[in-house]
Amino acid sequence: MYLKPNVVFEPLVDRWYAWSHLISPATSAMNITGRHLSIMESYLLAPGIHAEAVLNPKMRGGPFMDFAGGRIEEVRTLEQDTRRKRANMIEFSKAVKELDKMLAAEAKGFGLEDLYPKVPKLLKGYVELFYDRNNNAAFRFFESLLYKSEFHDTSAQSMAFWITNNDHRPFCLSTPRLDEPEVLHLDIPFLHRGIDELARMKREPQTLSYIKEILGITKEQEALFETFFTTTPHPAYKKYNGDKIRMRYFGHACILVETKDVSILVDPLISYYGYDSDIEHFSDSDLPDVIDYVLITHNHQDHILFETLLPLRHKIRNMIVPRTEGGRLEDPNLKLMFNSIGFKNVTEIGEMETVEFADINITGIPFTGEHSDLNILTKACHHVQIGEFKLLFMADSRIMEPELYKHIQRAIGDVDVIFLGMECDGAPLTWLYGPLFTKKIARDQDATRRLNGSDCSRGMSLVNIFHPKEAYVYAMGQEPWVEFISSIKYTDESNPIVQSNQLVRLCHERSITAERLFGEKELLYERQLIGQPELA
Ligand SMILES: [Fe+2]
Repeated sequence: MYLKPNVVFEPLVDRWYAWSHLISPATSAMNITGRHLSIMESYLLAPGIHAEAVLNPKMRGGPFMDFAGGRIEEVRTLEQDTRRKRANMIEFSKAVKELDKMLAAEAKGFGLEDLYPKVPKLLKGYVELFYDRNNNAAFRFFESLLYKSEFHDTSAQSMAFWITNNDHRPFCLSTPRLDEPEVLHLDIPFLHRGIDELARMKREPQTLSYIKEILGITKEQEALFETFFTTTPHPAYKKYNGDKIRMRYFGHACILVETKDVSILVDPLISYYGYDSDIEHFSDSDLPDVIDYVLITHNHQDHILFETLLPLRHKIRNMIVPRTEGGRLEDPNLKLMFNSIGFKNVTEIGEMETVEFADINITGIPFTGEHSDLNILTKACHHVQIGEFKLLFMADSRIMEPELYKHIQRAIGDVDVIFLGMECDGAPLTWLYGPLFTKKIARDQDATRRLNGSDCSRGMSLVNIFHPKEAYVYAMGQEPWVEFISSIKYTDESNPIVQSNQLVRLCHERSITAERLFGEKELLYERQLIGQPELA
């Protein structure tokens, strides 16, 4: 039997859609209290307000549960279970709050050693205290030790599987997954090899008894589980064997770069298939059997999707992620996070650092903005050079100081193709990072601390500096299969659409090929070898 192509793999933590901040122990504790419990409590107090807010387009992506005001008892049970099972994480988040308070009250520029006895008991040995150069006290976690502690509890992880016939799902950061008759819920951690074996069955047939045994399917689960399989083989993936560089846009920020020797997948986000969709798109069947490199640009939930990555884990050879070592709560380490969920061969890349293989160089390029002015370093744009052909994946960078990119251009030269995200009206700081703050953020400050990508003038400054032959706007969160995570729905008047239209027009005026990508796109480039004249 083969696995049907529209079986959703939904990774969950405490029954909430899993994203990286729910794996990294400290951010996970803060999200349990500051997001999950807070949304559940609010729902139980006023379910009607949530039901109304979900229908209001202005509230899209807000902290409102999409249960039409119902399912109260189930939400109450989930809330109580969370309080019981995650008591240690709730205590952890309280201790972080206490530590912040203690440092604010007592760290006045004098030696910090005397304050160690006042660190909350639960955090003792997990933090180092320090000052910045302006005598503001803060702390860092020994994050690798947190992964070895009770605060990294993989029993909170589970997987939901079901057959989808459309791209609709409620906004995933605000609505947990309750039991549904058509959803099979398995209490297995993300490390479980059954996930790999099940995903392999998209291409390699297996017996049902084999996969049932690995996943521990019970008698009660059997009937539903068996509906996930078919005897019909999937359309075969045709390996790219041409001499060119082939690039395929899979939606949002996900791009596959292939030569006949190597495949590179940037910010994986792959849709399902096997159901009617109005939009042509590449899908799982267009991915090679082996992905040599996965490149991750930054730690946002629409760029690191476990739902895509876990089923691909068995075919990913290497991952390149941005480096962080700060141990700051707001900037968890991605390598540790990926290792903890079964991804091996994760290489961290620093700014202007290069990883080389075959005739390919990947260089980490500074990524500025789009992080609400927090000191978050886990972000890298990727400069991919294949032979003499140069591609620049700028993700959601906001170009605040063009001088930076002039310095970079002097180091790497002009590029052939730029990909730039232009979600220039991003969400405010608290939308994503609110649970990590232990003091209330003033509304007016929040409004100026946004997750903004580049607008037209900022985007054009890159074009002016790197002189690309082609410029593509991507990562706009517009594809229907991205909406559940991006919470974006634009109209023609939306500023990111207006700004990106303008950038495309300006590029055309200069004879630069330009387009805002949507759905799918295939591009082919000559593979010019280093030191060789351009091929015809
Ligand atoms: Fe982002």
